[in-house]
Amino acid sequence: MTNSNSRNEPVRYEVEGPVALITIDAPPVNALSAEVRIGIFASLARAAESQSVEAIVVTGGGRAFSAGADIREFGRTPCSPTLRELLQAVEDSPKPVVAAIQGVALGGGLELALAAHYRIAETSARCGFPEVRLGLLPGAGGTQRLPRIVGVAKALEMIVGGGQIGAAEALAIGLVDEIAEERQLGPSAIRLAARVSQLGGVPRKVRDRQDKLDKVKSDPEIFERFRAANAKRLRGALSPDHCIRAIQAAVLLPFEVGMARERALFDLLLADSQSAALRYLFFSERQVGRSDADGSEANPRSVRRVAVIGAGTMGGGIAMAFANAAIPVTLVDAEAAALDRGLAIIRRNYEASAAKGKLTPAQIEERLARIVPSLRLADVVEADLVIEAVFEDLAVKRDLFAQLDALARDDAILATNTSYLDVAEIGGGTARPERVIGLHFFSPAHVMKLLEIVRTARTAPAVVVTAAKLARTIGKVGIVVGNGYGFVGNRMLAVRDREANRLVLEGASTGDVDRLLYDFGFPMGHFQMRDLVGLDVGWKRETSSASTVREILNEMGRHGQKAGAGYYDYDAQRRPTPSPLVAGLIEDFSAASGITRRPVGDTEILDRLLLAMVNEGANILEEGIATRASDVDLVWVTGYGWPRHRGGPMFWADQLGLAEVVRRLRARADRHGKEFEPSPLLERLVAEGRSLTGAPRPAASAPLKEEKPCTAS
Ligand code: 3HC
Repeated sequence: MTNSNSRNEPVRYEVEGPVALITIDAPPVNALSAEVRIGIFASLARAAESQSVEAIVVTGGGRAFSAGADIREFGRTPCSPTLRELLQAVEDSPKPVVAAIQGVALGGGLELALAAHYRIAETSARCGFPEVRLGLLPGAGGTQRLPRIVGVAKALEMIVGGGQIGAAEALAIGLVDEIAEERQLGPSAIRLAARVSQLGGVPRKVRDRQDKLDKVKSDPEIFERFRAANAKRLRGALSPDHCIRAIQAAVLLPFEVGMARERALFDLLLADSQSAALRYLFFSERQVGRSDADGSEANPRSVRRVAVIGAGTMGGGIAMAFANAAIPVTLVDAEAAALDRGLAIIRRNYEASAAKGKLTPAQIEERLARIVPSLRLADVVEADLVIEAVFEDLAVKRDLFAQLDALARDDAILATNTSYLDVAEIGGGTARPERVIGLHFFSPAHVMKLLEIVRTARTAPAVVVTAAKLARTIGKVGIVVGNGYGFVGNRMLAVRDREANRLVLEGASTGDVDRLLYDFGFPMGHFQMRDLVGLDVGWKRETSSASTVREILNEMGRHGQKAGAGYYDYDAQRRPTPSPLVAGLIEDFSAASGITRRPVGDTEILDRLLLAMVNEGANILEEGIATRASDVDLVWVTGYGWPRHRGGPMFWADQLGLAEVVRRLRARADRHGKEFEPSPLLERLVAEGRSLTGAPRPAASAPLKEEKPCTAS
């Protein structure tokens, strides 16, 4: 093989016999940055000019064929060749081009492969169009070429769904022409290229394929059916609908006109704040756990075995989270019946996953075998990390920690899954406060992505780093937070709860509050969420004194969804209907509290619910309970259903403009009390002309990092 490249170039050009091999070598994921595009473009020209080259293979070095357009370039001035120009050159190459896919071919990377004339993939390769997750659509011909090759139904599923498919499926649906054994991709691709070059003539182009599109012309309803079937999933987000429209254009319009339509729709999305929010979250998620621990120098310790105390819903879910990541767990409960019940629920959960095709029977058994039940607290002795998930009561937890301190190995980390309590106090009686930490999982713990990692003033940096690394290992977004009441998530939720309760006493209905939050993009409203969680969480009959509506509901046995009644009435399918009884009860409570009810407008409801949260989030940052505004956002997006396309409360506030936020907070403070007085952090940022997240307003058209002259699209 001849190679005439200098080192460190993002694209290598080599020749083997009659085949030119163009390799993208731009770690970590071969994103199609300006340098890469220029490199491929120049290599194509070189191959075209060469007398000896008859065919071309484009492939990727390292762990990806290509992860697509360089997301960091969005919003900058485009430079030539744009991705579209490059792909045009690939497709128009007079010599056949074979895309040889290893690792992932995503977004613009898959579009590059679709512009090639043939595709071959290694068995472990994966393909997909994740643009929708960035609030975008495939903007370099993906929406026009994919349906031509795999048909409209599959294109809708792939582009609107944003998921990935494996090589076998790609072969089955015609997305790739051949599969190569592992580590045989290079030679196989070169053989394929040499073979197709023998065919002669103009290389075949995906753009010329019409058969799969024609099929849909007799079924124009396919798009409306898809919209209707996915209505819930598409709610509120702009890009899925634009993806559908672009694919529709592929069916209805000639290729070039369809491409222009795709471009126009892409540009609209790129300029919209939804895409800015989703790109912000993409980078924020990747920042999590880095230099968080004010001890980034510290080395994480290895956690080979975990013990979980308490086999209830939370303890069982936590045990599953570790078993799923191949970490053995000792699940301890004092009562045999509770332990049996917990294990039965774990098995049921796994079987439900298997029924959805997510696990094989063998995998269920493998995971269950990693969870060792025990009735003896002393069995924690084998664990590197012990997590308690018992009743939310300070005295109970303190007592348990004292016992664990005596039983666990000296170097073991003791963690509490408390959702509100003071972690330092829980661990205060132990001889190892530097190895005490909070690990606040969210229910169901094997599903929910969020993990609040609560460090106390005495938690050692190495312990924080260990928890952050462990969070990644078990697939969680582990946000390091300070030890204050409710940490980040529940502290902000408490503020929303306060306002929701006040609003319904002042004259709004629970339905108004819930409708507005749902329309904003939350999966459910505040009171529906309360009913789902259970109104009796943290409630004690002995101390209940009808002092709040919630206490009264609990005293009536209306504990929420599970009881068939809470703020709402529920039918057998757990569908809510407004309860006249509760409405009356709230009115009576208003009267008894001396509150004169009045009509409360939608703007006031949303302002009070959401701006109160923003203000509390700013206080949390000011107090150092959260390190970064993006951490606050990730807590709410991953743990509490804040709509991703709105970026999180801090990002949303930046989009409103902090000056406007402060103005509205002051107005609310005048009418509704000092709780709305703007956080000093907000006042300071406004005075300095800065934002919470660093994102300018509007963020969509601005660069995420330093200005550079070139962009991908
Ligand atoms: N552009 C720029 N940077 C990217 C990138 C991209 N497309 N994809 C990943 N990166 C960066 C990440 O930010 C991260 O950088 P960091 O180390 O500085 O934080 C690094 O690459 C590694 O990424 P991950 O930590 O995510 O590594 P993983 O191995 O876990 O995942 C991946 C790799 C599956 C490729 C994942 O990064 C991913 O899903 N990337 C995004 C892919 C994507 O959305 N592509 C579409 C882009 S838009 C497009 O192509 C538009 C076109 O249609 C016009």
